[in-house]
Amino acid sequence: MSNALFRTKNVEQSILDTEEPEHSLKKSLTALDLTVFGVGVIIGTGIFVLTGTAAKNTAGPAVSLSFVVAGVVCALAALCYAEFASTVPVAGSAYTFSYASLGELPAWIIGWDLVLELALGTAVVAVGWSGYIHSLLDNAGWHMPAALAGRDGATGFGFDILAAALVLLLTVILVVGMKLSARVTSVVVAIKVAVVLVVIIAGAFFVNSANYDPFIPKEQPTEAGGNLKAPLIQLIFGWAPSDFGVMGIFTAASVVFFAFIGFDVVATAAEETRHPQRDVPRGILGSLIICTTLYVAVSIVVTGMQKYSLLSVKAPLADAFKATGHPWYAGLISFGAAVGLTTVCMILLLGQSRVFFAMSRDGLLPRFFSHTHPRFGTPYRSTILLGVVIAIVAGFTSLSELAELVNIGTLFAFVVVAISVIILRRTRPDLHRSFRTPLVPAVPILSVCASLWLMLNLPAETWIRFAVWMAIGFIVYFLYGRSHSRLGRHQETKVSDVMYPPKGTAE
Ligand code: ALA
Repeated sequence: MSNALFRTKNVEQSILDTEEPEHSLKKSLTALDLTVFGVGVIIGTGIFVLTGTAAKNTAGPAVSLSFVVAGVVCALAALCYAEFASTVPVAGSAYTFSYASLGELPAWIIGWDLVLELALGTAVVAVGWSGYIHSLLDNAGWHMPAALAGRDGATGFGFDILAAALVLLLTVILVVGMKLSARVTSVVVAIKVAVVLVVIIAGAFFVNSANYDPFIPKEQPTEAGGNLKAPLIQLIFGWAPSDFGVMGIFTAASVVFFAFIGFDVVATAAEETRHPQRDVPRGILGSLIICTTLYVAVSIVVTGMQKYSLLSVKAPLADAFKATGHPWYAGLISFGAAVGLTTVCMILLLGQSRVFFAMSRDGLLPRFFSHTHPRFGTPYRSTILLGVVIAIVAGFTSLSELAELVNIGTLFAFVVVAISVIILRRTRPDLHRSFRTPLVPAVPILSVCASLWLMLNLPAETWIRFAVWMAIGFIVYFLYGRSHSRLGRHQETKVSDVMYPPKGTAE
């Protein structure tokens, strides 16, 4: 039985599967498309919303250091992702990589875990997007009925109709075709980056250096008082729960980590890339470097414009401009944020539909979902199913409840990918790797430790939710995936052919 759980999918087979006409995706993306995709998904709610929360509650102006910490964790993971993506250039990201190296059960676990990152991430960003749209509508004097404005503002029934509508619209765009989405994405990414540059350049003129004092605010005991809201690391070591200080930088890093989520999604589009072996690593590392630089600059400027304790937690970038008497800039930034979050949502949804597609193609989820559209060449069934479910979740969910769960799921995927790099180097040293992670095993081991460190800085209750989600995943695998696995069936067929040869083939 343990052999069945750890049966691995041959890397060559993974690549062959992508060539079956009914189950194959169009190969049209270039390194530039991937970088645009990367930047399109990376810059979003994290920098536009969570910078304020993290600076105000846990790190002060030192939130820029939190971005550096989170960026380093992601860079280490990116070096591992890039090697895998260039070795196993098929849809499915960490899921596919671990199927080829660790085995079926670990691959299932990671695929299930990626739902936290991608599907819940889509929902979280859609809710954030709707918040910016509401603020723009409010400026124009339009007000949505409270019951349709989301759970946060509602007293009774609350459904965020704008968030749900966005997810459904993006679902249609993705079903119609990759190329259209890439074109739309490029325009939106240009607007978003322009707005971020406006914040950095215009904001630099309004910085008051007194706001940087203290840069790392003194440690303060928190209300959390050792309950489940405290970071797990504080509970484990019996530390008095506190905010700010040096530890606050790490707590904030585990939150603003959300701002980096998405560079790994570039790897999920490997199968649709013309030269995956060369372009996927370029796309991943390129987008990560661009975003880290922008984040550090934005957070330095914003905490210089306004005292950290006064930063807004809903629209900190726009409100910092309002606070310095420049509401025109604030409107522009809100508009750019709303436009920018659209692509984040779309690419997360794209990544999710591709992971689901790969799992279905392997028989771990019903094969019905892995048929591609005869005309559009997209996995339309999985995209539609996920789009509808995510629209419902986005409609009924409040943003803050889920962001930390998204982070823990993603960090866990990083841990598995880094371990897989080491394993695959040992089990398949012969495979062609157009990108090789430097200093193996040191870099993957560092990546595991860094990701675990950020996970430990997340609240204990997030760990509990994560454990429950993974337990459900185990049940689904043992009730469905294990017996329907295409790989398992192939292997059984081979064994029974030997034991009971079909008539006419026996010697
Ligand atoms: N990194 C993406 C964001 O910040 C998910 O919205």
